[in-house]
Amino acid sequence: MSFEFHNLRSGLATTSSDDQFAQAVLDGLSRNPKRLPSWLIYDDLGSELFTDITQLEGYHPAQCEFEIFEKHKQAVVDVLTKEPFRVIELGAGDGRKTQILLEHFIQSGLIFEYVPIDISEGAVRNLVAELESQFPHSTMSVNGLAADYFDGLQAIKEDSTLRNMVLFLGSTIGNMELPAAETFIRTLRESLNEGDYVMIGFDLMKHPKTLYAAYNDATGVFETFNLHLLDVVNEKLGANFKKDHYVQQGHYNPSTHAVESYIYSTREQVVFIEALGREFYFAAWEPMQAEHSYKYTQHEIETLATTCGYEIVKHLFDVNDHFVDSIWEVKRT
Ligand code: AVI
Repeated sequence: MSFEFHNLRSGLATTSSDDQFAQAVLDGLSRNPKRLPSWLIYDDLGSELFTDITQLEGYHPAQCEFEIFEKHKQAVVDVLTKEPFRVIELGAGDGRKTQILLEHFIQSGLIFEYVPIDISEGAVRNLVAELESQFPHSTMSVNGLAADYFDGLQAIKEDSTLRNMVLFLGSTIGNMELPAAETFIRTLRESLNEGDYVMIGFDLMKHPKTLYAAYNDATGVFETFNLHLLDVVNEKLGANFKKDHYVQQGHYNPSTHAVESYIYSTREQVVFIEALGREFYFAAWEPMQAEHSYKYTQHEIETLATTCGYEIVKHLFDVNDHFVDSIWEVKRT
């Protein structure tokens, strides 16, 4: 079994993703109120900081998904046929949760390829190395891709003989607005074949106090994570954000059904961004939204699946019904 890594973000791909980054910052800082998309945070250090978040006891989306995988790993095996298959993980990060499933697939004698895809090259390299040391001689081969999700899916589409199961875990879907989530799910379906599966992690609507606590840890890890966005913009675009002139806070917003994270400018200040050749003015205590984590109801999840051309196979819940990993099958009618 082989363990490979490929970087699809080098050369031309990198130039276009750099342009995309600069455009997103320009658009976001030109809006009123200012708002930057959360995907900007995930360079190698941003991915590591998010891994720190997933280890916090109070961050229930990660803890619930660990519990779900431990409890329902056989239910996932029961969905898969005994034929060789491929598991593709979008935004694999450190892949720690997924290893619970991978190990169980191996112990069940299933033959499969695991393709972790992530925009952080460091995260994918580390994950491939980790899997090689953990499972050197097993029924699993690994092909890690540093790539944007759909570039990665396109690259593996040629081999359509294997049935695919795409994992999109950790409630990353919640970081998209509802219309964007719907477009994403439809585009994902177009990249797959009839009979392929997807398993998507959704954080469910719950007591707002639980949500507040989950996104405002006492140790300041969330603040460090969100403020890292400013370092990334400084580094990539030659900006002069002074991180200690900003603070961060998460809030549940009942009108958007999302936990929204804001970076507040603690004073009046002007930031210059060299790559954009522009200055941006911040008033004292002006908020800039840095994240949006939508909280779903089960009904919304089911509507999303069926209107986008999938059939629901199984919902896997944690004991408190705080989170669900929902397995759907691609249908072509
Ligand atoms: C990556 N994403 C699913 C996380 C979330 O819960 O929206 C990001 C995060 N931000 C603060 N804590 C976690």
